[in-house]
Amino acid sequence: MAGQATELIEKFRWKYPKSGTPRVVRAPGRINLIGDHTDYNEGFVLPMAIELACWIASAENDLGILRIHSEDLQKYIEMPIALLAEAAPRDDWSDYPIGVAQELQAAGVEFPGMDLFIDSTLPMGVGLSSSAALECAVALSLLGNQRMERVDIAKICQRAENYFAGTPCGIMDQFAIMHGREGGAIRLDCRSLEFEAVPLMRSAAVVAVNSMVKRELSASGYSDRRKECEAAIDLIAEKHPEVQSLRDVTPEMVQEIEDAGPLYGRVHHVVSENMRVAAFVQAARQNNPTAMGKYMVQSHRSLRDDYEVSCPEVDFLVETAMELAGVYGARMTGGGFGGCTVNLINRESLPEFRRRIKAFYQYRYGIDPQVFLCEPAAGAGQFG
Ligand code: GLA
Repeated sequence: MAGQATELIEKFRWKYPKSGTPRVVRAPGRINLIGDHTDYNEGFVLPMAIELACWIASAENDLGILRIHSEDLQKYIEMPIALLAEAAPRDDWSDYPIGVAQELQAAGVEFPGMDLFIDSTLPMGVGLSSSAALECAVALSLLGNQRMERVDIAKICQRAENYFAGTPCGIMDQFAIMHGREGGAIRLDCRSLEFEAVPLMRSAAVVAVNSMVKRELSASGYSDRRKECEAAIDLIAEKHPEVQSLRDVTPEMVQEIEDAGPLYGRVHHVVSENMRVAAFVQAARQNNPTAMGKYMVQSHRSLRDDYEVSCPEVDFLVETAMELAGVYGARMTGGGFGGCTVNLINRESLPEFRRRIKAFYQYRYGIDPQVFLCEPAAGAGQFG
């Protein structure tokens, strides 16, 4: 990591020769082990911050201008601080940093003109939360030495994503990035925002496999599901007015809407997924990867059949993984409609798993899937 920071500082100096000595911040990506499409239903999730991360070197300038360079995209944007409040989204990468800057200002945070240099080991757009990592890294850079609670940084970044970048995401990604723990995942209650560390055994590796599929549907499908959940709450609340969100729905109430078409499946998924998060955490605490894997597969089937956010390529990756030696469990992870699977594997079987899952997928779809070993990492913060 130290090498990464030194290299980043050198690149920063090259790009902004007149700027002062930069601070370096790092914000990890995340992979969700279990509990998908539950965060915006005030339920439970179990994400893990990972070593792949977004890095930013930053220093003040005396120009009154926010200058941002993305090394991965080879793109640059600048914006006078005085005009930030009026900035409008451009529908590109810059919406994340500008949105965060605007939200920080709206929250009363003041910052001077600054130079930011973004570099990342986190692949973009594969479902490992590169955009949320970028948001959190930008927030920490602009805050400098000003203190803000981690949970408030996460909320500001979520707001930037919701209102500026225009994605109606929940709190999971930004929260996990700000609160990651070395050695494991965190179980988050998305209603109270209370969380606890859940250590994972070293003998089991968490591996992401990227289907390389990015469906047009992912944005519209995600907001459709959110609307369906709201419709389901209205329906259930007709008989049970105490129900404020799907978090409050009991298994008995789920059965009462058995005839509600797709809404039944949506609710069935959310209610059962919350229970699976609890069961998975208990299995992790008992060092029982076989049971953890079983819940992962159940989660996948529920997301595929009840919530209908999977796709054939991702289903193929899950089913194939489950045939391979040393694999305890596999499931889609994140929003769905493509993206990555998360696999829990006996660490010794990793080389064989990598070789075989690539070969099978290539044979079936003619695409070489990326495979990422995801080691748990600490949450975002200043480096050095
Ligand atoms: C995306 C969103 C998260 C969450 C997941 C599904 O990753 O950003 O807030 O809703 O999908 O669990």
